[in-house]
Amino acid sequence: GAPVEVDVADLKPGQLKTVEWRGKPVWLLKRDQSMIESLKKTDSQVADPKSDRPGMTPEYAKNETRSRKEDLLVVIGICTHLGCSPNSRFTPGPQPNLPDDWAGGFLCPCHGSTFDLAGRVFKNKPAPDNLEVPPHMYLSDTKIIIG
Ligand code: FES
Repeated sequence: GAPVEVDVADLKPGQLKTVEWRGKPVWLLKRDQSMIESLKKTDSQVADPKSDRPGMTPEYAKNETRSRKEDLLVVIGICTHLGCSPNSRFTPGPQPNLPDDWAGGFLCPCHGSTFDLAGRVFKNKPAPDNLEVPPHMYLSDTKIIIG
């Protein structure tokens, strides 16, 4: 499949944009400061905090925010369990069936896997891995090429 170019200039903090790449949904989430800070809290709650597992995270995204720029998350929106499409839950606070101190992220409706705002899977699983970060790079401050 051909690479896909995206402009995120219109994305406001807290907003998510979806584009298609190789038939897969790619999410681009613009994180505000509190969303970025929530990632420190979830470090101890996620299964693979440093994204060490092979194949899911390019070297340049093996950092706390799993991104090239800390405010923009780029991940494939497909659950690593059996391939369902997780929903966004960006409202922090206690919610049914979610970790008590939920800081927002993604919830898979199929078997309840939860992911933080960097797409890292919580230890309660059942998804085995973090959401995949597709290969991508910046062409300018707001233009990204995926693939
Ligand atoms: Fe997402 Fe099973 S497919 S939890």
